[in-house]
Amino acid sequence: MHTMKETFFLLLSTSPIWLLILSFLGFFTILWHSATVARWVYRAFLRPSKDLRYYGSWGIVTGATDGIGKSFAYQLARAGLNLVLVSRSSMKLKAVSKDIQSEFPDTKVKIIELDFTEDDISGGIAEIEEVIEDLDVGILINNVGITYPNASFFHEVDEKVWMNVFKVNVKGTTWVTKAVLPKMIKKNRGAIVNIGSGAAVIVPSHPLYAIYAATKAYVDQLSRSLHVEYKDWGIDVQCQVPLYVATEMASRVASVSQASLFIPSADDYVKAAIRQIGYEPRCTPYWAHSLQWCFASLLPEAMLDAWRLSIGLERRRKESVTMKRIEGCKQE
Ligand SMILES: NC(=O)c1ccc[n+]([C@@H]2O[C@H](COP(=O)([O-])OP(=O)(O)OC[C@H]3O[C@@H](n4cnc5c(N)ncnc54)[C@H](OP(=O)(O)O)[C@@H]3O)[C@@H](O)[C@H]2O)c1
Repeated sequence: MHTMKETFFLLLSTSPIWLLILSFLGFFTILWHSATVARWVYRAFLRPSKDLRYYGSWGIVTGATDGIGKSFAYQLARAGLNLVLVSRSSMKLKAVSKDIQSEFPDTKVKIIELDFTEDDISGGIAEIEEVIEDLDVGILINNVGITYPNASFFHEVDEKVWMNVFKVNVKGTTWVTKAVLPKMIKKNRGAIVNIGSGAAVIVPSHPLYAIYAATKAYVDQLSRSLHVEYKDWGIDVQCQVPLYVATEMASRVASVSQASLFIPSADDYVKAAIRQIGYEPRCTPYWAHSLQWCFASLLPEAMLDAWRLSIGLERRRKESVTMKRIEGCKQE
């Protein structure tokens, strides 16, 4: 009767070398994939979130009156932070601020009305700098972002529309970061979360929304470089790249009417998003989005391109039918 050890060495000495190599390769491949799955489970569900108050007692959220930004505002307040909310409608800002203060009476909220599509936003940026001058700002959520109202080929997009997308997504994000960063550098501490999009990272193209995807690629690259530049200053810069989240924007551009397994509500997205702050420089925080990212990475890019194009074209077709119907009704 052989012991297990003896059987193992007997097998080693009697098996052909090619079988041994294949067996070792198989073993290490299984080990590698198991480690990847274990790491994903840990990051998505088990890893403790950072104490956000460590970064400072105030958080700034742009685009804070709806969707993901509004959820960030509530959940940062729940985490014990005071808030500076930046958005374009003072009425909506006051309503959100009032709601947050009634739910979290100890939370201080300051609001700044700023329309990022304006040509000159230097006044609004100066106001942000002034408001945060004496505040211990720890977290910036650069959330504001817009896209086209309709799926369109590049040459069809009205100049005003694409300029607005550029002004909000690129210029707005850059200016606000520039305004807030010096405060973080001074105290060697801070977290900046830039909301990018899976449209620029997870899929290889986003046809019929090309300028939106390009602006989000800018956000991704800016974030990565700032992450490297400022990590020695104790500042964690992160780009989050969500896929669809059930918000007003998703309902407009993708007819998403409600949350589902793969399309979280803004609250569910932000719950996951907050748990990732301060960790990897780029992430897609919601578990079902990261699964989709994994599947997408297994497919050939040409297949993903063709799929995205077919979705864009279908949307464009539906939108043009709706437009024709509306025009028909007007003429009757
Ligand atoms: N939803 C998705 O499926 C999805 C997927 C990937 C990435 N994202 C990104 O996530 C971010 C938030 O998207 P969301 O879906 O939450 O959008 P949303 O529901 O449309 O909310 C956008 C927020 O930004 C504000 N805003 C819009 N234009 C503005 C302007 N010119 N100046 C100042 N504030 C302005 C809006 O203010 P009002 O309340 O006044 O409209 C609102 O508070 C964006 O950067 C978007 O690109 C979203």
